[in-house]
Amino acid sequence: MPRVCVECNLKQIKLSGRLAAVAGFAARGAGVIDVGTDHGRVPVYLAASGYPGDIYASDINVRPLSRARELARAYGVDGRITFLLGDGLDVVCAGDADTVIIAGMGGETIARILSGAGRLYGGVSLVLQPQTKLWRLCDWLDGGGYRVADASLAEDANRVYPVLLARAGQGGGARADMFACLADKRDAALPGYISSLIAGAERAARGQASSRIPADATAETELRFLRKMSAYAGGWDAIVNEHRFRRRADGTQGTGET
Ligand SMILES: C[S@@+](CC[C@H](N)C(=O)[O-])C[C@H]1O[C@@H](n2cnc3c(N)ncnc32)[C@H](O)[C@@H]1O
Repeated sequence: MPRVCVECNLKQIKLSGRLAAVAGFAARGAGVIDVGTDHGRVPVYLAASGYPGDIYASDINVRPLSRARELARAYGVDGRITFLLGDGLDVVCAGDADTVIIAGMGGETIARILSGAGRLYGGVSLVLQPQTKLWRLCDWLDGGGYRVADASLAEDANRVYPVLLARAGQGGGARADMFACLADKRDAALPGYISSLIAGAERAARGQASSRIPADATAETELRFLRKMSAYAGGWDAIVNEHRFRRRADGTQGTGET
């Protein structure tokens, strides 16, 4: 039997762990846009759970947007969602939404969408779920004046994905802050996630070594950072203490990097 939202009496859609984590970070706010909504499950979920603000669902392609509209109709919430066809954040104006979701795309694509959004402003929360190239997205957040305020790991089809909540402000670096959040939560998926990132980074390094492409210093730094995190895997207190120590040492936030 489908679950029904108690407050709004609407049939509730079931989300994967990944999309539930995304929706969880976006659940409060005065307006939300899901950029690249595709199936539309997140906006439909938010509408059916009584999200109080405006809900926008956008996509650059017509077919996904009509899929999202059909899903909303099936759940009786099509009147609650504004469907917008277009590229990234071009489709909204400053003030329309205080929460921007960009999920299920590569980190570079997410960074490109954010870079093209001259309209981002201080109070916006970014809920970001990169499928790949997490580091590229972290670089964008650092350069764009955003800090990672919260993070979680979520499973979908036997893979673990990071979900980040970023807000304007100065942090200790998006990578370090993300790991600090996950360590603080004692996220059980963290050790396995770090191992999989290391395996990927090592594969990339081997590929680079056997090609004629000059060595990428950033990739090596990332690998060093990950190996350090891996040394802590399972030893939560060590990770948490490392970040606490660094926060004290520089008077603000930890960097986690050595
Ligand atoms: C893999 S799906 C992700 C769907 C959903 N957000 C999720 O996490 O499951 C990516 C969607 O983003 C859309 N997309 C890609 N680039 C976009 C852009 N620049 N602006 C808006 N939508 C975009 C694609 O058309 C596609 O529907």
